[in-house]
Amino acid sequence: MITVLHVSDLHFGNPAVPELIEAIEELIQTRKFDVVAISGDLSQRARAGEFLRARAFIRDAQRVSRTIVIPGNHDVKWWRAPLGLGDRSALYANYRKYISPDLEPVLRVPGATFVGLNTAHGVMTHTLTWNVRDIGVVGDLRRSQIEEAKEDFAQSPPDDLRVIIMHHNPMRGELSQRHGLVHTKRVLGAFADLGVDLVLCGHDHQEAIHYVEHTKRGTVISTAGTVSNRSRGGRPSSVNLITVSSARIEVHTLIWAGHENTFIDGPTRSFTR
Ligand SMILES: [Fe+2]
Repeated sequence: MITVLHVSDLHFGNPAVPELIEAIEELIQTRKFDVVAISGDLSQRARAGEFLRARAFIRDAQRVSRTIVIPGNHDVKWWRAPLGLGDRSALYANYRKYISPDLEPVLRVPGATFVGLNTAHGVMTHTLTWNVRDIGVVGDLRRSQIEEAKEDFAQSPPDDLRVIIMHHNPMRGELSQRHGLVHTKRVLGAFADLGVDLVLCGHDHQEAIHYVEHTKRGTVISTAGTVSNRSRGGRPSSVNLITVSSARIEVHTLIWAGHENTFIDGPTRSFTR
């Protein structure tokens, strides 16, 4: 059995809720998950102080769990190199300094391979939108990134659980009515070809669990809600707890009950591997 705590969109800085962060920290220390996965947006404005707090969160988790972290659009200083003009290394300078030099880490634990993909490329022509509010928000995956993920999975035992962790949601959000990622059909098709069993993502600020069926085997998509006060539609924050056995993948949503300062059990979905 592998246990994964999937959290996303912590947004350290103004949107962070101290009681909520502390409750998750306690959850991690007491439940000792095999893996704590953070699918981006650690910060609000990619500032040093925000990343420093996120770094402490990750370091504490590493005392009891393996961790994997990738950047989200809020962790990228897109205004430093819009449309690829300027110094692209400035986009991720703070993330690299305070969180990790590796934007696309790979984590191997017994029975599972986690491949991190960076979908937050800043403002590029191919993700440009006419909606000013969306500048720098839309995510994308390049073919070369999928090729690298393929090589990473090829080095794993064939019956390993194959997990992709990325920031942007490939499934349309129920309230937002939006995909965070562009070219979702192509990306999900590529994941199916790679035999990806599980996708961990966030960005939508509304939790969701999806299953995409395809010919080989299906892909479970865990979209974690936000751990901040920016939850969509005034919904409570939540995290996803995932348990994997040789036969099943189960995703349990834990919902923050602020008035009781604790998490309560939300929906659970169970899938055959
Ligand atoms: Fe976010």
